[in-house]
Amino acid sequence: MKNVAVMGYGTVGSGVVEILLKNRGQIAEKNGEDIAVKYVLDLREFPDSPVADKIIHDFEVLVNDETVDIVVETMGGLNPSYPFVKRCLEAGKHVVTSNKALVAAYGTELLQIARERQVNFLFEASVGGGIPIIRPLYQSLAGEKIEEITGILNGTTNYILTKMGENGESFDAALKKAQELGYAERNPEADVEGYDTCRKIAILTAVSTGCEVNYEEIYTEGITGITDVDFRYAKKMGTSIKLFGSSRMQQGKAFAWVAPVMIPPSHPLYAVSDVFNGILVKGEALGVSMFYGSGAGKLPTASAVVADIVDAAKNSHKNVYGGWSSRKLELSSMEEAEHRYFARIAGCEKDSIDSVKKELGQTEVIKLEEESGEYAILTDKMPEKEWNQKKDKLAADGVEILQVIRAEV
Ligand code: HSE
Repeated sequence: MKNVAVMGYGTVGSGVVEILLKNRGQIAEKNGEDIAVKYVLDLREFPDSPVADKIIHDFEVLVNDETVDIVVETMGGLNPSYPFVKRCLEAGKHVVTSNKALVAAYGTELLQIARERQVNFLFEASVGGGIPIIRPLYQSLAGEKIEEITGILNGTTNYILTKMGENGESFDAALKKAQELGYAERNPEADVEGYDTCRKIAILTAVSTGCEVNYEEIYTEGITGITDVDFRYAKKMGTSIKLFGSSRMQQGKAFAWVAPVMIPPSHPLYAVSDVFNGILVKGEALGVSMFYGSGAGKLPTASAVVADIVDAAKNSHKNVYGGWSSRKLELSSMEEAEHRYFARIAGCEKDSIDSVKKELGQTEVIKLEEESGEYAILTDKMPEKEWNQKKDKLAADGVEILQVIRAEV
């Protein structure tokens, strides 16, 4: 029998216990041995819950109990998650976590300790909730050269953008709805500013390259600047706007960024709407593959945690997941990344449009009948540096650029 201790009986932690209890027989059969919940560490009491008699408040109890084989960290945040997880690994216990902040910030060190102690540090649930993506990347695609990972990795922002696109809602109205439905936090900054997506794409990039990725070096732009007017243009152009976390290997250079991108219906991620997540993986031999599903929520996220628990139990005497090393991945500057650019420009005089087209070269012009005081353009593909230079030149010539969104159309 393997004993599990769960740290944090919140949404995900209680979901993990629920699945472990409900599917205990099936898990024992698949795993070859029983997996039992021995402790649940939380500051609170849960007298009416199935773990009422397993609640402990002192971390020392579980870390010093040699019969605890696997520790589940579902507390979130970095403190006390980081010191607790570190001590559990040092004590020779396997650790499974759903905490992307922890993995993005301390993954390199925690993976190293796990290797030294011949235990496993597993974090399938930290990206894409219930969608299997970490294990496919290092197991199923082990022989691949991954050329691109592009994901809609945040359910809250995807819900907001979907409602703006479907109903013509403003950002604020869509955010309010997301908060009412419990998708968005009262302080939605981590989601809407792209920080959550940034940590997730950092983890996926590190897993796929085997190198450490400093999430602070990833260019990150959220969705707070996207407006209902942008979506009116998108509708006219038959496109949509999604928040992408992307890492790409191009001409021997590694790029990683988070930004809203305008995409056409032919893009594999176009149909990923509402709170769902979707991740496109492009391999040199494989071509494009798509992973789609529930990227958040109690039971979907708990499902991925339980799969990691089973994996840790099956490999209880050895470290099977290399993760990534301390070798750092050098990321190229966003200035070198190439995109098309959708831009909205104030004014609608023919002279202004002509001078903008002259500066930008091959450019499409889009006009909305109801927005008579402005128009939009879609440029050809060019490096960000070149676009910024052209944009600065236009601004110096008195052209007022109201909005810029990268486009993959
Ligand atoms: N806030 C995250 C989201 C939760 O909206 O996707 C899952 O990581």
